[in-house]
Amino acid sequence: MQIDNREFRDALGTFPTGVCIITAHPQGQKPFGMTANSFAAVSLDPALILWSLQNSSDCFDGFSAIDKFAVSVLASDQLALSDQYARRNSHDLKPQHFRLGKSGLPIIRGAVSSFECNIWAKNPGGDHVIFIGEVTHFESNANKQPLVFSSGQYCALR
Ligand SMILES: Cc1cc2nc3c(=O)[nH]c(=O)nc-3n(C[C@H](O)[C@H](O)[C@H](O)COP(=O)(O)O)c2cc1C
Repeated sequence: MQIDNREFRDALGTFPTGVCIITAHPQGQKPFGMTANSFAAVSLDPALILWSLQNSSDCFDGFSAIDKFAVSVLASDQLALSDQYARRNSHDLKPQHFRLGKSGLPIIRGAVSSFECNIWAKNPGGDHVIFIGEVTHFESNANKQPLVFSSGQYCALR
């Protein structure tokens, strides 16, 4: 089957996801973050999660320089943050947007949940790299509603 890129993207987009900001702080550099919806659970024991990074991303060098990262799952009122950290050349974290987690990683303030991870594996995945993280700490706030992304649109759960 000949795969049309646009149609393939649109078909993948029919799978609704949450929205995260993946953050990291390479030594000697500024803390940075990138919006991602490729986050998924992998394993309970050990506690593993994954997300994937476009090889062409501005953040590629930053994520190549780290051995740990954090995932912050955005709340329904954090659409502006999602847009901000999805823009090109807009990945330096603003001080008011983050606090430090237990392992010293930047965590987005007001997120529904966060997962601090050591990199467990990094596997090639076509035009993406798949990061598998071993969760060292996590936090979750059951009272918050997540931001949802579906067919290229943000929405919230009713
Ligand atoms: C809702 C949403 C989800 C995204 N998910 C991912 C993702 O999982 N992986 C990824 O590499 N880029 C993802 N992006 C794109 C990046 O956030 C960023 O916009 C893109 O990499 C282009 O900017 P850059 O070259 O500065 O990285 C997503 C963007 C949006 C708006």
